[in-house]
Parts: sequence; structure tokens; C-alpha cells
Amino acid sequence: MENGIRIQKVLSEQGIASRRKVEEWITQGKIKVNGRPAVLGQKINPNRDVVAIDGERVYFQKSNQKYYIMLHKPRGYVTTMSDELGRKCVAELVEDVPERVYPIGRLDKDSEGMLLFTNDGELLHRLISPKKEVAKVYYARHEGQANADDISAFAAGLTLRDGTVCLPALLEPLGPGESRITVREGKYHQVRRMMASRNMTVTYLERRQEGTLTLGDLPRGRTRELTEGEIALLEGKTQP
Ligand code: URA
Repeated sequence: MENGIRIQKVLSEQGIASRRKVEEWITQGKIKVNGRPAVLGQKINPNRDVVAIDGERVYFQKSNQKYYIMLHKPRGYVTTMSDELGRKCVAELVEDVPERVYPIGRLDKDSEGMLLFTNDGELLHRLISPKKEVAKVYYARHEGQANADDISAFAAGLTLRDGTVCLPALLEPLGPGESRITVREGKYHQVRRMMASRNMTVTYLERRQEGTLTLGDLPRGRTRELTEGEIALLEGKTQP
């Protein structure tokens, strides 16, 4: 998504001309983006870029298009759209999305991995409801080794050091100081605090899966749009 939407898609959706016609105009040098001749396949952000056809500026109508975006959040970014303390926020990583999108849930500043965004208010509201118990799968590196007692304690529902009680969760040791953890809720710093309650300190945390959506090989710091199938799963229209 880094570079926006293809210019022929934008102009055809605005009803200005067919995609083919737009391509023709591009090859004839009739279209300029920010004062420079457009090139075939060029992607634009209709909210920021200035497009002119034969010297006439095109004013884009605001679309009510819905966006569903997956970000591979890097460490060091806070999950907010602006930060009063001037810290790096995830908003910077989705600024090429043509509409303002909001995070579905959170990832703490030191954690990495899948963070979903949308401008679909209804879906956002539904998905961040605490009643929505979607399984979230994390990969953790930690000091200390998970043992059979830890696995049983996770399965029974841990009590954190401050007395907070967690839903049953799955702890799967992967190797020395490495585990996969599956939880169905999103309390503040939950995985770090669950591990701490069993005397393990998390040194690296990455969310790899939410429900049926997987991070896959999306590079760190990059976004992609969800496929229609993924959106249907997110909306609960299709059984996985
Ligand atoms: N658990 C954490 O500790 N941090 C997160 O960001 C998500 C789950």
C-alpha cells in the first residue's frame, strides 16, 4: 500500500474516464501528477496528490470506500494516531492510506507484529468489544524456561501479580527461551504480565495471528490491504 492507488483506478472510479482511456492519456503525456507527467501504473493518494488532465486540475470527490489494512508494526511505535509526548506513532505507518484509518486493538510500544486498521466504524466498534474473544497468537522470546507447571497454570487461567484473573490461555514452549502464546483477550501488556507472573521476562514479542488472519511474510513497517476473503472472515460472514 505504500504508494497509494493506481491512477487509472482512481480516475475511473471518479467517473472521469475508463481505465483504458486513462492509460491512453498517460502515454500521450496528458496527465500530470504534482506537475510531473504521470507514468503507467503510477499510484497516487487522492487526498494529497494534485492531478491535472490537459492542464485542468481534477478535484476528487470524497469516497466512502472502506479500507481494511494490516500493518507489521515495528518496535518503538505507540498505538495511537497522535502522541502528545512526540513519540513515534503507528499513524505515520499508515499515512499512505487515502482515508483516515484507526487501529483495531493495540500493541504495546515494544511489541511488533500484526496490527489491523480500518475506517469501517461499525466493524471497529464490534471488534474491539471485550466480548469478542478472538484468539491472538504471539511469538515470545524470554528469560527463563517454560515448564509443564507453567503450561498448566496458563491453561487453568492465570492470576497476574496485581490480582487480575485471565482467561485460560495456551503456552507452547518452542525451544530454550522461546514460546508461542495464544490468548483470547487483550488486557494491558497481557502477555508480558502473564509471563512475568510465572517468573519469565519477555525480551521480544510479536503478534503473528488474530483469528484466522496471519502476518505471513509481510515485512516489518509495511502494510497491505486485506483480501475480500479476509474481510469476510473479520466480519464473521464466513466460517473459517
Ligand atoms: N501482550 C503484551 O504484553 N503486549 C501487547 O502489545 C499485546 C499483548
